[in-house]
Amino acid sequence: MEKITAIKGFKDILSDEALLFWKAESIARRVFNSFGFREIRVPIMEKTELFQRSIGETTDIVEKEMYTFADRNNECLTLRPEATASIIRAFIEHNIYAAEQITKLFTIGPMFRRERPQKGRFRQFNQINAELLGEEHPQSDAEIISMLMHFLASAGLKNLQLEINSLGCSSCRPAFSRAIINFLKGREENLCPDCRRRTNTNPLRVFDCKVQTCGEIIANSPNILDFLCSDCENHFEQVKSFLDDLHISFSINPRMVRGLDYYTRTAFEVKTNALGAQNAVAGGGRYNGLVSFLGGPEVPGIGFAVGLERLIACLPKEGKDNFNTDLFIAALGNQAQKIAFGLTNELRYAGISAEMDYSDKSLKSQLKRADKLNSYFTLILGDKEIDERQALLRNMQTKNQQKISIDGLSDSIIQILKER
Ligand code: HAM
Repeated sequence: MEKITAIKGFKDILSDEALLFWKAESIARRVFNSFGFREIRVPIMEKTELFQRSIGETTDIVEKEMYTFADRNNECLTLRPEATASIIRAFIEHNIYAAEQITKLFTIGPMFRRERPQKGRFRQFNQINAELLGEEHPQSDAEIISMLMHFLASAGLKNLQLEINSLGCSSCRPAFSRAIINFLKGREENLCPDCRRRTNTNPLRVFDCKVQTCGEIIANSPNILDFLCSDCENHFEQVKSFLDDLHISFSINPRMVRGLDYYTRTAFEVKTNALGAQNAVAGGGRYNGLVSFLGGPEVPGIGFAVGLERLIACLPKEGKDNFNTDLFIAALGNQAQKIAFGLTNELRYAGISAEMDYSDKSLKSQLKRADKLNSYFTLILGDKEIDERQALLRNMQTKNQQKISIDGLSDSIIQILKER
């Protein structure tokens, strides 16, 4: 029979890597909790219109990358390409804004974008996403950036570069867009067909075009920071100064506009040189008009998403440890097997990871399995030990052995494991 393989760009996360996901997610939960963020779980599929309206009709994501299909009743549905839109939809749908002035939410899960798969770029990938709603003060921009940087450092990432920019607001952005349109007008023949089309519809999107010639043109374009209104300029100055107060280093990248249309004012990305071309491990920004644009009240917001596959790819090699078993029980003979079976179960109920072998193999081959499982201790239990009512506990790292009484065995083992 021909074997069936996974879909291109969709990958299995095998156990060793799944452990790293689990660790990163646990660290995120702990760090986010200390910043007052609570979890929300939103569906992985939404009405297509939600993403069209929030991310923007003329973005790469909406134009080219969404998994969209007609449901059996002809409703147009999309596998989420990001989580912000869904969180805001839920925020509005459940009137969360009415119950509290400031809402801090995070979610963790898979996203879907039909991009060209390459190193660090998948069609199904996982994000850790956080959103802070109801606060416009530039201190909240610094707060969320601080949470992101602290999380990435706590997860073990090193040599990160934080880049920030301001994208202005609905009163100052139009002047910048006009300046870009004028700038691009004389250079149209060197732009890719997409950018030529977008020059008039959505000129900011030319900034995140991946085509090299478009990038070269944009490198000399007008600078968005020269067009900020005084409120936006003031906000950006304060964000920078609050980041300084928190000792968070950053550089300003006026060409970074981010690939989603909903951003206003602060935008940021965290880059690393450990990833090659896909060098952004996280990105985010402020979106003061999004909640009302999706039918809710005027509530400002700011958030970010971390790409989990990229985060894990950046971890230093020595950080990649294996799953450890606390105790392996090598049982030899029927009676020992019977005691070991009950003991393994008892220890597992007590939260200890215990393993044993049911096949009555030789001691040598059981010890081999204990090594393979990275077991901390091995308990050796054979007829001789049962006769003497003393089992042998071997520390697999130091190879030291000690005798422990078979009576009250599980309590003694729990105690020894606690003290290690
Ligand atoms: P984004 O920049 O599109 O922002 O994605 C955030 C992160 O997700 C990227 O920096 C990258 O690490 C990861 N990522 C994106 N696409 C892929 C892919 N195809 N394969 C692997 N990893 C990928 C957002 O999604 C916004 N919703 C962030 C946000 C939240 N802004 C405000 N709130």
